[in-house]
Amino acid sequence: MNLFSVSGKTVLITGGSRGIGEMIARGMVDAGARVIICARKPDAARALAAELSQTGECHALQADLTSCEDIERLVAAVGEHFGGKLDVLVNNAGAAWGSPLEDFPTKGWEKVLSTNVTGLFELTTALLPALRAAEDRPARVINIGSIDGLRVPFTENYSYSASKAAVHMLTRHLAQRLAGEAITVNAIAPGFFLTEMTKFMLDDPSMNEMIQNGIPLGRFGQPADIAGTVIFLSSTAGAYLTGATIPVDGGVVGCG
Ligand SMILES: NC(=O)c1ccc[n+]([C@@H]2O[C@H](COP(=O)([O-])OP(=O)(O)OC[C@H]3O[C@@H](n4cnc5c(N)ncnc54)[C@H](OP(=O)(O)O)[C@@H]3O)[C@@H](O)[C@H]2O)c1
Repeated sequence: MNLFSVSGKTVLITGGSRGIGEMIARGMVDAGARVIICARKPDAARALAAELSQTGECHALQADLTSCEDIERLVAAVGEHFGGKLDVLVNNAGAAWGSPLEDFPTKGWEKVLSTNVTGLFELTTALLPALRAAEDRPARVINIGSIDGLRVPFTENYSYSASKAAVHMLTRHLAQRLAGEAITVNAIAPGFFLTEMTKFMLDDPSMNEMIQNGIPLGRFGQPADIAGTVIFLSSTAGAYLTGATIPVDGGVVGCG
């Protein structure tokens, strides 16, 4: 009965204010987890937390993961308000940049790598004491990668695809390092989900059709697809996976 339960677990979701992070937050709150979301813009995070608190438990914290001071503040808040114990860390916050090859700017590397890779690494290491203190072992780290880090994308997002390949490798490296401490580290590589990040592609009718035709299951990802995989990885059912990258993409990578 409890194989897929996450009830009562404390879960921090970075970038939980909208898009894929919001889908995960809604699923986790519905499943009875104690959820903390963080993002740079506090208003959107607070509004979502207020809405989700009507049916469960959701707290909002403000943090820019490219700032060491904000990471310190976020970790201190987890210590102060949540007993310094964290069962699940979902590293979801991410940034993308697209530009033609010869015009690709340095700031397009700095922004994407500092958010997707350095920020993820620094937050994870800063939260290790809280993950080590989790009551329900193993504690879980779930990194949101991308199919763009598994196969060559059709958009010119060079720093993004490289950052997501880095997330997948970092997942394996951290998994190997932390396995002996009963902390699992896995990645999910989403395919196409309609969010602010993919709006420019999916709002264009011809591109939308082209993308959808390339998805073997014939549809874009839905909230239950991503929330379900995160819940699985966070529950007893997912306790024996570590170092894995799971594509949640309707078959784009697996059937390609
Ligand atoms: N959508 C897709 O189809 C797709 C596919 C593959 C992978 N992904 C990955 O899934 C994750 C979520 O993407 P999404 O599509 O949901 O994007 P999104 O709609 O742009 O949402 C990004 C979230 O991250 C937060 N964020 C961005 N930069 C941040 C920073 N420096 N510090 C803290 N929070 C930050 C944003 O809030 P603020 O702006 O308020 O900070 C927002 O909550 C990303 O890692 C992305 O690469 C998405």
